[in-house]
Amino acid sequence: MVEWRIVLQTAFDPANNPLNNNDWSFPLMECIHIAMFAMSIGTIAIVDFRLLGLMFKKRTPAEILDATSLWTLIGLIVVITSGLIIFTTDPLSYFYNYSFRYKMIALLVAIVYNYTIHRKVAKSNSSAAVNVMVGGFSLLLWISIVFAGIFYAFTEELHYVGGPN
Ligand code: HEM
Repeated sequence: MVEWRIVLQTAFDPANNPLNNNDWSFPLMECIHIAMFAMSIGTIAIVDFRLLGLMFKKRTPAEILDATSLWTLIGLIVVITSGLIIFTTDPLSYFYNYSFRYKMIALLVAIVYNYTIHRKVAKSNSSAAVNVMVGGFSLLLWISIVFAGIFYAFTEELHYVGGPN
């Protein structure tokens, strides 16, 4: 079995990480992370609100999707890149955190969902019931990912040999 603690300790050296060695780079990277998830999830939420029939009713969901999808993609690329960079500052405590694990799994599910079912339904003339189900699920899933990001500090770490607990 892979011993992830050893892999992470070998791959990353938090003591020499530039983000841990000056006052401004960690908060700056967090600001980028937060701004970019606001952009990517915000643009996805615009499509969701249209699918739910709450906004932009003069436009079709397909038109809204076309207008927003580039911004969603740019946001996702930057949020994932900045997240990985922040992760290197303290890989063990993030890796062994329940909220971080949930966030990574839910993010994978959300990205696959966004570029398959969500996209297909937004582009087709689906019934209002299907639109509501697909848009509602998307919104809840992305909101749960934001909450998981906020909750790192308040969730217990999983036990691992040689670490906290
Ligand atoms: C759309 C996807 C994502 C969302 C919505 C998201 C959301 C968040 C939120 C809300 C925070 C807390 C900010 C704060 O309160 O200071 C956060 C921090 C963080 N995120 Fe993400 N994140 C996403 C993707 C990622 C990815 C892909 C990674 C890494 C692989 C990652 C790693 C981190 C790390 C390490 C922190 C720092 C936590 C700390 O302050 O110690 N995130 N994220």
